[in-house]
Amino acid sequence: MLKAIGSDIDLSVPSDCEYYDYVKDVLESDVVQSMKQFHHHGHTSCFQHCVNVSFYNFKLCKALGLNARAAARAGLLHDLFLYDWHDYVKEPGQQLHGWTHPRTALNNARKYFKLSPLEEDIILKHMFPLTTALPKYPETVCITLTDKFCGAWEVIDHWVYIARKGIHFVRKVFAQ
Ligand SMILES: [Fe+2]
Ligand SMILES: [Fe+2]
Repeated sequence: MLKAIGSDIDLSVPSDCEYYDYVKDVLESDVVQSMKQFHHHGHTSCFQHCVNVSFYNFKLCKALGLNARAAARAGLLHDLFLYDWHDYVKEPGQQLHGWTHPRTALNNARKYFKLSPLEEDIILKHMFPLTTALPKYPETVCITLTDKFCGAWEVIDHWVYIARKGIHFVRKVFAQ
């Protein structure tokens, strides 16, 4: 079963799920699946983060009458930089990961998928306003919000998990 954070919807049910129909080929590709090996925020992998962003970007764009298909597909690819950013060492003169990874993700995505100009803009500018190029489409503005929203949720979820484990440990100690 595949779920986005905070959702009970199984995103991997064929034909039952509009989201799945839009992203099936991207979601099941080896390159997107390979993001499972990279940590992103807390205990959330890069793959799960991209599913979270993709799903909520799909929902937001659909509610606004925008291109929900492009929002979902580009959302899955927006962080396809394919390394653990915690280990990222910048070369002299190179910018930090936060600034460079949208271009890396876009270059990787182009190798594996045929992207529309809208999908390219969503991937390349998802870090706006950290990266200063202005979003060209409303779907790109949406991902700048859903990416930050999901990132914050994943970090909070991690700290809640740690706190729960701590409380469980203390209770166990005092119960003895
Ligand atoms: Fe990103
Ligand atoms: Fe992201």
